[in-house]
Amino acid sequence: MSQAVAARPIAEILHWPAEGITRVPLQVFSDAELYAWEQDLIFRGPTWHYLGLEAELPTAGEFITTSVGDTPIIVVRRADNTISALVNRCVHKGSIICYQSKGKRERAHNFVCPYHNWIYDFDGNLTAVAFEKGIQQKGGMPPGFDKSQHKLIRLRVETIRGLIFGTFSDETLPLRDYLGPVMVEHIERTIYGKIRLLGRYSQYMHNNWKLYIENSRDNYHPSLLHAFFSTFKINRLSADGGTKQDDRCWHHITFTKRFTDKGDAVYDSGMIRAQKEDYGLKDPSLIDQWMEYPDQITSCIQSIFPGFVLHQILNSLATRQIVTRGPEACELVWTLFGFEEDSEEQTYVRNKQSNLVGPAGLVSMEDGMIGGFVQKAIKGDLDGVAVLEMGGTGVGSQPTRATETSVRGFWKHYRELLNV
Ligand code: FES
Ligand SMILES: [Fe+2]
Repeated sequence: MSQAVAARPIAEILHWPAEGITRVPLQVFSDAELYAWEQDLIFRGPTWHYLGLEAELPTAGEFITTSVGDTPIIVVRRADNTISALVNRCVHKGSIICYQSKGKRERAHNFVCPYHNWIYDFDGNLTAVAFEKGIQQKGGMPPGFDKSQHKLIRLRVETIRGLIFGTFSDETLPLRDYLGPVMVEHIERTIYGKIRLLGRYSQYMHNNWKLYIENSRDNYHPSLLHAFFSTFKINRLSADGGTKQDDRCWHHITFTKRFTDKGDAVYDSGMIRAQKEDYGLKDPSLIDQWMEYPDQITSCIQSIFPGFVLHQILNSLATRQIVTRGPEACELVWTLFGFEEDSEEQTYVRNKQSNLVGPAGLVSMEDGMIGGFVQKAIKGDLDGVAVLEMGGTGVGSQPTRATETSVRGFWKHYRELLNV
């Protein structure tokens, strides 16, 4: 599907600095025309978008509603157990068809538009039009009206380890090829069991969607912005860790091995915002974790272009999905999960550690705020540029987290898709 709505060609809107991916024009975080192009070339372009978890649709007829960029989507499990994703927009006059966030339709022909009651099946076929033949031999649709010519737009759908992805484009690579082996391996490592849902919430952020995506790939900030991390030595750059990317550098993983932290004079120097004293929590059970993974990784963030994040922070596991809400706002949808085989105690630990993440989390709250700081500050200077030179000027995996390589990777693919 392609429907460029921007008024001008991108080349007239945006001039990327000559330095390339080490510079980001601040204009990209608020420009309305560029935002329209992104909807067309990124969200409806050759990219995969996380739609939800299979565990949210355990039986046939169950559905959730979500969005890909600005486009509303229905995700439903068919009778044959496969998953269908449809644009949630009536072909009559464009109303939202399904306005519930989740539910179950007992019959297949049962997505009924609230406006004039046109009805669709799980494949998006229009199966009934109210008063199609008129009433009392008067009115109705013309004899040539053919319902089969009016369908909801369907997305291609693929799944991996219970994660559902959809794409609008026929050109998008098959999901596993799009992810690449490094990303596939990490998803399969993190989601090693049958997913059990623990909770879901969303947060509205007063910043452009890309400011959050940059943040999720920015492994340089956690021990600096998040005082909780550095104070309680959960995530410091002085612990073993690194940054991995796929061969094309579209996606990213950053990881930490918490118990390898040997301390570092930099954290004790007073030059950065970390506690010199050996602080402890009165109730340390909040950060008690069991070593869940054989690779000894205690925290990792995986970010899939453009808007999906999978996290393990201690034993807290979650998906995060970015939803665009105009040039200067976005929504982040969090789904916390564990596994069917978890013991009661393990579920308790996961739930307790969910206090670290999410909009009010002891760690994540700063991420919900920092994008707004940037958005406010750049308003006055749209000719400015951001500087991304930590860890060099290129992209690719590095055996450190003191790098912005993955943020540069995001901009590399962004520029490829927008051709800027
Ligand atoms: S807008 Fe949906 S039936 Fe008219
Ligand atoms: Fe953060």
